[in-house]
Amino acid sequence: MNLLKATNENISRAADVIKNGGLVAFPTETVYGLGANGLDPVATAKIFEAKNRPSFNPLILHIPSYNYIEEICDINLSKIENVVTKFWPGPLTLVLPKRDIVPDIITAGHPTVAVRIPRHPVAKELIEKAETPVAAPSANAFSQLSPTEAIHVVNQLGDKVDMILDGGSCKVGVESTIIQIQDDEYTLLRPGGLPVEDIEELVGKKLNREIPINETPNSPGQLPFHYSPKIPLKIIGRFDEEILKDKKVGALFFKSKVLDHKFADTRFLSENGNLAEAAANLFAFLHDMEKEDLDLIIAEPFKEEGLGRAIMDRLNKAAKRFE
Ligand code: TXA
Ligand code: MG
Repeated sequence: MNLLKATNENISRAADVIKNGGLVAFPTETVYGLGANGLDPVATAKIFEAKNRPSFNPLILHIPSYNYIEEICDINLSKIENVVTKFWPGPLTLVLPKRDIVPDIITAGHPTVAVRIPRHPVAKELIEKAETPVAAPSANAFSQLSPTEAIHVVNQLGDKVDMILDGGSCKVGVESTIIQIQDDEYTLLRPGGLPVEDIEELVGKKLNREIPINETPNSPGQLPFHYSPKIPLKIIGRFDEEILKDKKVGALFFKSKVLDHKFADTRFLSENGNLAEAAANLFAFLHDMEKEDLDLIIAEPFKEEGLGRAIMDRLNKAAKRFE
């Protein structure tokens, strides 16, 4: 394992690793990604192997600029210009009709491909220097918590990747919002770091919200138990003392408040109730709590508005696993 600070020199080295078919974990503004040359099926296959990820789960291609869009997507840039000029670079992924140049392993055989231009300077420089679209899922082992710090990647995938670029903690902290654009239909596939309301305001209509949950979902981020800590997590609206009985319980609250109960660990995602800060802390706090010897994590529910929707989505999925 090769953990390196994300200096320009090391980013160039990382780009060479990608050009040579290797795997590099790198920071984005949402979470750390596990990158490989997205036009090379053999390199991409290594991502599935390292993560132990089912191969029906398609990957996002990260590109450095608009220039690549028409190369990999069967779409006229003018059709999505309003969305991309407003929200890219940033925490938004678009699912668009694909071109033949995109390998089937990237799209899991779907006729669409997921594309994103990230905002993080390290991600941007790496993708530019790699001179290819970079396929990157979150750099966690399958079904575990997404990494928001380099150390999270080290712990989960350390010996399985060629290089990890350390660029500090991810500012957004939850994965990108994914929408599919087909003709003039906009469908939300995953709530994430860009509030759905911002997109709706721009396109002037509500996004189609039908998120199908089934065995072969369009977006396996939709699998009900995708983002899970190893300790059982319960979302609790009204607290009942019973729950503390014979258990070491950690509690995750939105903002600071006076508590009547003593928990083994108490955390406030944002002391002042700032949703962006809460999202940025979510996975990092869960990673920390996972290391403690807790029997249960209880989490306060979030209102499903703005970033609260993405936070609640991740909490629901974490809780689902233990139902
Ligand atoms: O913020 C993010 O999106 C991070 C960073 C690294 O960019 N990446 C990320 O990738 O979260 P991943 O693989 O963990 O989640 C991507 C989701 C998956 O649920 C996948 O199923 C969905 O995107 N997806 C990819 N291609 C798709 C497609 N063609 N149609 C529908 N969903 C797709
Ligand atoms: Mg993921």
